[in-house]
Amino acid sequence: MKYSNSMAAFNLFKLSILLSILLNSHFGLCSETSNKQISKGVSSPPTCSRIECPSYDVIHVGNGYEIRRYNSTVWASTSPIQDISLVEATRTGFLQLFDYIQGKNNYEEKIEMTAPVLSEVSPSDGPLCESSFVVSFYVPKVNQANPPPAKGLQVQRWNPVYAAVRQFSGFVADSDVGVEAAALQASLVDTVWSAAIEKSHGADHTSVYTVAQYNSPFEFDDRVNEIWMLFDMEDDFTE
Ligand SMILES: *[C@@H]1O[C@H](CO)[C@@H](O)[C@H](O)[C@H]1NC(C)=O
Repeated sequence: MKYSNSMAAFNLFKLSILLSILLNSHFGLCSETSNKQISKGVSSPPTCSRIECPSYDVIHVGNGYEIRRYNSTVWASTSPIQDISLVEATRTGFLQLFDYIQGKNNYEEKIEMTAPVLSEVSPSDGPLCESSFVVSFYVPKVNQANPPPAKGLQVQRWNPVYAAVRQFSGFVADSDVGVEAAALQASLVDTVWSAAIEKSHGADHTSVYTVAQYNSPFEFDDRVNEIWMLFDMEDDFTE
């Protein structure tokens, strides 16, 4: 009796630690320690040695950023989600995408987990300073020819596209995202890339930036996130 009581207390203790970690990270209270930039540069996220990620070519390495080209990738994307919080919108979108890969799709087909999960941020005209978020799952190569359709999700086939990329670590908090995006923008000032980004966004104002997350909420170490600014270039760029 005594033993089982103390076991129960111990389990409750473990649970409360876990909850406090989850809650703290969710509300971004750990951001001081967890959101240091990984290094000056950008490196391949460790997750991609374990699960499939889209391949890309590194076109240019800058100070605190890199320019990648993604040739052609396929994504399963939610409809736009209106929210004031990227973290909440990503959670909402990810739950839909998780159902999708668990077999809640028209073919009842299971799909392997991949990385990253993208949250594309666009301004919205709503009254509550909401933004609009599209959350996307990278469709593995084996499923790209015929991705299962599903209610509420769209399959997107990207043309070759360039991305200016900045990495940061830790759990993504709403308060960091704007800061990291601004830092990426600052690091690109007066480069050909920022000119190309402006030009692309001038033509198509829909996407301001995208947050790419490579880890599940249950991984606490070596978390890698990226800010992407996607753009087109007329000429093929190779260093
Ligand atoms: C992308 O396409 C170019 C040109 O066809 C090719 O040289 C390159 O290897 C491709 N890169 C990837 C990552 O598939």
